[in-house]
Amino acid sequence: MNDSAVKHIPVLAETLAEQISLPPDGAMVDATIGHGSHSLLFGQTLGPEGAIIGLDVDKNAIRRAHFTLKKLVCKVTLLNCNFSEISEQVHKEGIERVDFILADLGISSSQLADENVGLSFQADMPLDMRIDKRLKTTAADIVNKTDEKSLADLIYKFGQDRASRRIARFIVRHRQSRPITTTGQLAEIVCEALRRPKQKCKSRIHAATRTFQALRIAVNKELENLEKLLVLAPGLLKENGHIAVISFHSLEDRLVKNNFKQNEKEGIYRLITKKPIVPTRQEIERNRRARSAKLRIAQRQ
Ligand SMILES: C[S@@+](CC[C@H](N)C(=O)[O-])C[C@H]1O[C@@H](n2cnc3c(N)ncnc32)[C@H](O)[C@@H]1O
Repeated sequence: MNDSAVKHIPVLAETLAEQISLPPDGAMVDATIGHGSHSLLFGQTLGPEGAIIGLDVDKNAIRRAHFTLKKLVCKVTLLNCNFSEISEQVHKEGIERVDFILADLGISSSQLADENVGLSFQADMPLDMRIDKRLKTTAADIVNKTDEKSLADLIYKFGQDRASRRIARFIVRHRQSRPITTTGQLAEIVCEALRRPKQKCKSRIHAATRTFQALRIAVNKELENLEKLLVLAPGLLKENGHIAVISFHSLEDRLVKNNFKQNEKEGIYRLITKKPIVPTRQEIERNRRARSAKLRIAQRQ
């Protein structure tokens, strides 16, 4: 699919803009630049002395964001790197501390539609799931090489699927006759394991959703990276600076919630959102991707 044809609507953008305002000479790190849509919103409020540093593990995202942000007057630096290295990367640019760190986790609409990323069960794509192509292990490597128990544990831990043992058993049985190499093949196996007729698998929540989530988290080391970002953030924020994290599943949200609470206890953060902010019904109608989003914001003391 031609990625310029895929529109990415930023989640909770208006809410973020209401909650966070940057001084004209402010500096922000967009840890997940994606299409650059959130950054565009903040960048429009920055003057020539302001700066945005955008990070993304996907080099195509960097290309897309360049295009989105090219008219901004502030300084824009886009780096193809992992946000687990946020401090090192920002310091290399000669910036010690910033006013705002934004992380809009997960994947963009373009990545979901992109055959080269191989994430979707709605189409038949190579079973890859690496957002960062520098990573070595693909989802196909995991489903074809992991022993049954470890596979079940992975699907349970990262997908929270109670049928994980049965799904793992079916995967192992299928791969004995031929390797599982496409997303369509894997989705069918999961449907079969859950005894869902194919047409039911096309219902609102696909039966393979949790298994695909588990594999994506494992392949991209999503929780490990998020933990590193959360640990580094206080050291990078100016006094009164903000961190905002938008997460899309409870495993991520729990990490953010616990980290913010702990930092609040230690007098490092003030919580701006006691409860996470979720999108309105109207936003979800406009953008289905927003339906599981949760936004948490904290302020550095
Ligand atoms: C939901 S999209 C962000 C969309 C963006 N906020 C916008 O408005 O266009 C998430 C982005 O984060 C990137 N990403 C995911 N994990 C990352 C990580 N550990 N480090 C850097 N970027 C990451 C993905 O490649 C993807 O482009």
